[in-house]
Amino acid sequence: MRFLITAGPTREPIDPVRYLSNRSSGKMGYALAKAARNAGHEVTLISGPVSIPAPESTDLVRVETAVEMFDAVKIRINEADVAIFCAAVADYRIKEISAEKIKKNDEEVTLTLMQNPDILGSARSEFGFTGRLVGFAAETENVEANARGKLERKGCDFVVANDVSRRDIGFDRDANEVILFAADGSTMRLDRASKDEIAKAIIQHILTR
Ligand code: CTP
Repeated sequence: MRFLITAGPTREPIDPVRYLSNRSSGKMGYALAKAARNAGHEVTLISGPVSIPAPESTDLVRVETAVEMFDAVKIRINEADVAIFCAAVADYRIKEISAEKIKKNDEEVTLTLMQNPDILGSARSEFGFTGRLVGFAAETENVEANARGKLERKGCDFVVANDVSRRDIGFDRDANEVILFAADGSTMRLDRASKDEIAKAIIQHILTR
């Protein structure tokens, strides 16, 4: 099977030297790419800027911004059988990027943000993707209700939810603990384990159900 996986954060430029981003390390997405490849699948990994090495034998597409990630996914997704959206895409970008470095002349500076395209949310509606679609949900409360809402709204077959309010798992950690919500109503909990082990279990689960 062919997998398309998004990973890492996106970087939204403010001026030539500054950007807005988030704490995603890319570890979970890269672990998923490795697990899919180790299970004998072809993998295209569309990644925001991260500091971990590219997994071997995967087709790595590097992007910076959410708009670049959107375009990269759009042209490739329909070659995939399974698409997993693990990237922590910035919800907003700077409306007017300054061509020059912003000087500290003023006491206060106001940046206006505008919404980025929802890449996962476009998979079915705009890209016409008909394969197996997996989203991630980083929640701090009402994990099940929020994850199930996302699953329905974005036309996913599975949503992998993790509780980002916990310090021992998730963002920039080597371990994770997740719950998989499936469109058929079933749920599966994967107890705290390394991201490599969690990734392997996710790949197995989404292919066998
Ligand atoms: N995602 C995406 N493009 C975006 C934002 C999110 O592809 N611009 C994907 C992420 O990769 C992840 C899922 O959508 O798979 C996470 O969605 P999230 O941003 O948490 O969901 P929303 O429905 O926008 O809800 P929230 O209000 O919680 O931000």
